[in-house]
Amino acid sequence: MHKDIKQVLFNEEEIIQRAKELGEQITNDYAGQQLVVVSLLKGAVYFTAELTKNIDLPVRLDFMISSSYGNDTSSAGSINVIKDLDEKIAGKHVLIIDDIIDTGLTLEKISKLLEMRNPLSVKTAVLLDKGARRVNEMNADYVGFAIPDEFVVGYGLDFAGDYRNLPIIGILKPAVFAKK
Ligand code: IMP
Ligand code: MG
Repeated sequence: MHKDIKQVLFNEEEIIQRAKELGEQITNDYAGQQLVVVSLLKGAVYFTAELTKNIDLPVRLDFMISSSYGNDTSSAGSINVIKDLDEKIAGKHVLIIDDIIDTGLTLEKISKLLEMRNPLSVKTAVLLDKGARRVNEMNADYVGFAIPDEFVVGYGLDFAGDYRNLPIIGILKPAVFAKK
């Protein structure tokens, strides 16, 4: 185990297996249709790759970068779009993918923003759901795993830019926070 990880919640095999299940579900739900996947950089890259490999439909992949003002471990009220989509989504089915839904503010704001562009539908998929911290009615349509209110890293999730490339989801040791 990585020296800064207190506990592994999900190993790589479990994540791959869950992505496969969700991919099959999405394939069935959108049968016969095309999908635009909107992956939220940077956190969603690993889950996006794993999930979309298991979606057996015509998929177009696009990316957005949004940032929330505030500190690194939780998002604040307003969201800033730093990089917008390359392609138009009017008349298309859109699936937004993020690493985790925490307060719910990111997914709520991005969903509302994309809904204004007249897509056929907008749904959301996340690897992790930290339900205890939600501040709104937002829920993801596809959830990999529900987790407790702990700060986790790996599989795309970072702490101050680090640990994204860990192939597991783990809880960070408190001593690591103290150092920053
Ligand atoms: P929300 O807007 O509060 O739902 O936050 C979503 C974003 O907060 C995620 O895309 C992550 O960047 C970040 N985040 C929330 N919880 C964690 C965590 O436990 N580890 C790493 N990043 C997190
Ligand atoms: Mg992040």
